[in-house]
Amino acid sequence: MKFTPFRLVLALATSAVFAAGTALAQAPIVIKFSHVVAPDTPKGKGAEKFKELAEARLKGKVKIEVYPNSQLYKDGEEMEALSLGSVQMLAPSLAKFGPLGVREFEVFDLPFMFDNFDELHKVTGGPAGMALFKKLEPKGIVGLAYWDNGFKVLSANKPLKLPADIKGQKLRIQSSKVLEAQMRAVGGIPQTMAFSEVYQALQTGVVDGTENPPSNMFTQKMHEVQKHAIVTDHGYLGYAVIANKKFWDGLPADVRKELEAAMAEATKYANSIAKLENDQSLEKIKASGKTNVYVPTAEERAAWKKAMIAVHKDMESRIGKDTIQAFYKETGFKAD
Ligand code: LMR
Repeated sequence: MKFTPFRLVLALATSAVFAAGTALAQAPIVIKFSHVVAPDTPKGKGAEKFKELAEARLKGKVKIEVYPNSQLYKDGEEMEALSLGSVQMLAPSLAKFGPLGVREFEVFDLPFMFDNFDELHKVTGGPAGMALFKKLEPKGIVGLAYWDNGFKVLSANKPLKLPADIKGQKLRIQSSKVLEAQMRAVGGIPQTMAFSEVYQALQTGVVDGTENPPSNMFTQKMHEVQKHAIVTDHGYLGYAVIANKKFWDGLPADVRKELEAAMAEATKYANSIAKLENDQSLEKIKASGKTNVYVPTAEERAAWKKAMIAVHKDMESRIGKDTIQAFYKETGFKAD
C-alpha cells in the first residue's frame, strides 16, 4: 500500500495514541502511606512489610510510598489529607478518631480495658472491632486492619510510684477525650499535642511528662528528656490501618484482592513483632541510664487502676454504652 501524506499522518497519530495508551496502562498505581512514627517501630515495620508484600504480589502494577515520622503530614493534618485524596493510606492511633467524629474508637483508650494482648485480639479480631470499622464508612474511610503497638508507660521528671505523684504535672496526650479524663482522674493537667512535637515540648518543659508504649518513647528519644518512667501498662495504644474509601473501592478488583492479601500478611507480621519491639525498647531505655524505669508492685498498680477506673462510667455517654459493653463481653473486663 502506498502511503499518501494523509495516510502517513494518520498512521503516525494512531501509533502515538497507542503508545501513550500502553504507557498509561503500565503506569503503576501509586499509594501514598503516611504515618507519624519512626521506621524502626511496630507500625513503621508493618508499613514497610506491606509495601514489600504488595509490590511483590503486584509486580509493577502498584507502587507503595511510605512516608514515616510525620514527614508528609502531622497528626491533625493526615485525616484531612486522606479525605482529600492527597494520601491513600494511613495508620493513625485508635486515639485519633474522635476529631473525625467517630468517638467510639476512644473505647480503646479506656484505662485498664485490656490485661494483655490476648484480650485485645478478641476485640480487634472479632465482631466488636469490625463494628467500629463500619462506622468509618460514612466518613469516606475503609478500615483495613488493626495493628498492635503496646501498653503504655507514664513518664515525667520526678519519680512516679502512686497516682498522687503525678498530681499537677502537665502531661502531653493524644487527641482523645478519654485520655484527657484519665489524666484528670489522677490530678494531671492534660495537654493535647501532635506526636511530632512531643520531644521538644518535653525538652523545653512545655509539658512535664507523657504516656506512650516504650517503642515510641525510645525511637523519639523521649527517654533522653524524661528522668523517670513507671511501667503501669495502664492503657493500650494501637492502630487502625485505613484507606480512602473511594480510592480503595475504585481499584481494579484483582489489584484490591492482592492488596488485601498483602495487608493480611503484613498484619500478622506487625502483630507478631509488637510485643518484642516494646520489650526491647524498654530494655534499651533502661540501658541508656537516662530514665529511671520503675516497675510498680501489684498494690501500686492496683492504686493506679482504682484512681483511673471511674473514667469508664464517665465516658459512657461519649463512647456509647453498647460499644463499651461489647468490649467488656469480649475481654471479660472486671473493674477490680
Ligand atoms: C502518639 O501520638 O503518641 C501516637 O499516636 C503515635 C503513634 O502513631 O504511635
